[in-house]
Amino acid sequence: MVTEGEQNCCVGLGANPDRDGFVTLDACIMDEFSNCGSVAFLERIKHPISVARRVMEKTPHVMLVGIGAQQFAVAEGFPLEEQKLSPEAEKSYKDWLIKSEYKPPVINIEKKQGGHGPFAPAKLDNGEWNHDTIGMVAMDTNGNLSGSCTTSGAGFKMRGRLGDSPIIGAGLFVDNEVGACTATGQGEDVIRVAGSHSVVELMRQGLSPEMACKKVIERIIRIKGPKAKDIQVGFLAINKKGQVGAYSIHKGFEYAIRTNAGEQLVKAKFVMGE
Ligand code: GLY
Repeated sequence: MVTEGEQNCCVGLGANPDRDGFVTLDACIMDEFSNCGSVAFLERIKHPISVARRVMEKTPHVMLVGIGAQQFAVAEGFPLEEQKLSPEAEKSYKDWLIKSEYKPPVINIEKKQGGHGPFAPAKLDNGEWNHDTIGMVAMDTNGNLSGSCTTSGAGFKMRGRLGDSPIIGAGLFVDNEVGACTATGQGEDVIRVAGSHSVVELMRQGLSPEMACKKVIERIIRIKGPKAKDIQVGFLAINKKGQVGAYSIHKGFEYAIRTNAGEQLVKAKFVMGE
């Protein structure tokens, strides 16, 4: 919620727009009862994750998209905002318009620190990769698991493009008997392997959260072949024992852990360049 409300490049209404200049937001949420809600291609609403929660709590559906999602949000009392790009997103979009290059699925980016290329996440000058999505997995005091995920998706995407983040099983999956997982990075490559669901299924087979994340990252690298060097994907998982783990393709995926003992920022392990 806080990040959605900030003017930043990757999440919320100030984020990088699509190639036509519109910011479209995706989010989903899932609880310990396998209740879930999702919104996608949502425009002019500040907090997509809150709308996803209302979809879960107040409708018989899992997913609402586009104008229907916006109508639902307005009916639920969410104000229709004016789109206002952050200065960073405004500059990135103007820079992108010079060539208007769109080269999926390769991430054609070599940007300065804090910048963003045609696809998120971006490779930074220091060789690390930043990321583009806020994903959270949580265990409550009763040991129940839940999760959520919110993003503006890939910068300068084709109009109508959805990534993994609003898709239950791709950007997020929770099974209260086993564990929960969320993803960041190039959504197309997360969707291809039903990423978060695959991680949870590997935890069901007995793998630790870290090893389960690593196995699915390795699967994506196998599928992509040499093109894996151009994309970033990261998974973050928690199991029923409260153990946490993460893995990414490249260096630069960091995640925060918050417990009663305090907060820490952890650098995820990565496969390429190990
Ligand atoms: N992971 C965010 C996206 O690809 O849209």
